[in-house]
Amino acid sequence: MSQPKTSMFNRNKLKLGIFSPNCSSGMAVTKVPERWDASWENNLKLAQMADEAGIEFLLPIARWKGYGGESNFQGSTLETITWACGLLASTRNISVFGTVHAPMVHPIFAAKQMVTTSHISRGRFGLNIVCGWNKDEFDMFGMEQLEHDKRYDYGQEWWDVIQKIWTEKAPFNYDGQYFHLRDVIGEPKPYGGRPVVMNAGSSGAGRSFGARNCDFLFTVLTDLEKGAKDVVDIKAAAAGFQRAIDVFTTSYVVVRPTKKEAVEYHDYYTKEMGDIPAAEYLMKMQGLHAQSFPPEAFKLFRERFVGGHGVYPLIGSPDDVAAEMAKISQAGFIGTTIAFVNYVKELPYFRDEVLPRLERLGLREPVQR
Ligand SMILES: Cc1cc2nc3c(=O)[nH]c(=O)nc-3n(C[C@H](O)[C@H](O)[C@H](O)COP(=O)(O)O)c2cc1C
Repeated sequence: MSQPKTSMFNRNKLKLGIFSPNCSSGMAVTKVPERWDASWENNLKLAQMADEAGIEFLLPIARWKGYGGESNFQGSTLETITWACGLLASTRNISVFGTVHAPMVHPIFAAKQMVTTSHISRGRFGLNIVCGWNKDEFDMFGMEQLEHDKRYDYGQEWWDVIQKIWTEKAPFNYDGQYFHLRDVIGEPKPYGGRPVVMNAGSSGAGRSFGARNCDFLFTVLTDLEKGAKDVVDIKAAAAGFQRAIDVFTTSYVVVRPTKKEAVEYHDYYTKEMGDIPAAEYLMKMQGLHAQSFPPEAFKLFRERFVGGHGVYPLIGSPDDVAAEMAKISQAGFIGTTIAFVNYVKELPYFRDEVLPRLERLGLREPVQR
């Protein structure tokens, strides 16, 4: 199936996306008063600012309850498809993803929701498929999660049904292990072709699912050397399915005029004002325990979890941040997501100081108006 020519396929060598603005506190597990308020007004302001700046996409987190602590990290969230719909109706070029937990939403319903969003946006909607994750959310839905790798078998059927609805002109029956469907049909078809699709599985089964089905796979970067190897492995896995895939990573940014100022602010919001009980719960959900890591590695991860939900830190002056992003690109990644303690307050400085440096480094082109 052809695909709409969106920002996700533009010429920029290093693409950028804003991650988790639909969730209170975004990615920073902190109590600072300026932490992100994920109100609709703030999301709209951010989306329009990012669109103007030529940022390629917005990626939400589908999260159904908070992580506790004093800030109740991510306790207030906007549902991702309806959020994407509103933002797409109010922007021009940027792509906006919706994140769907496949086991929680019937594929016929999901296909219809997404096709509607695809038409509203003239093809700028993207899908992030999540096959299962935080147990506490599944408990809240009264659902037992399948054994880990089976979640991806279920996800495969879910995605096969959706693709059939989006391509078949005549009613079809579907008989798989998990779905038995009769006379299935869906019109209209997506605007301009299949929406862009991503996945962020990290296990063998998760990555194989991504390699087989997705345009982009998102991975968490622990260090650049391992990251470069991950990119090679994931591309090779996709080649095994006669497909090509590109790999994104995910990072958080603290950029200030000098490295000293950036480090001081990072220390302030993580060490002085970090919401440690919420970060501990988040790490517990991810299966990260002090017992299973050497103390130094655990300390590093803990810092990253407080600073930005466990993703790669980009902390420093505009030169430092641009140089580190260049290394991410050299490692083979097609781009990275970014997040700030307060997106609307901090994006303008990033736009004015880091984006021009990335252009001078040949990683991005100036925005065409
Ligand atoms: C960039 C990124 C975005 C993700 N978004 C979500 C999300 O919004 N909701 C969710 O429940 N899980 C999300 N996940 C979790 C993944 O879908 C996946 O469950 C997790 O990486 C574990 O992979 P595995 O199942 O292969 O072990 C995300 C992970 C990453 C790295």
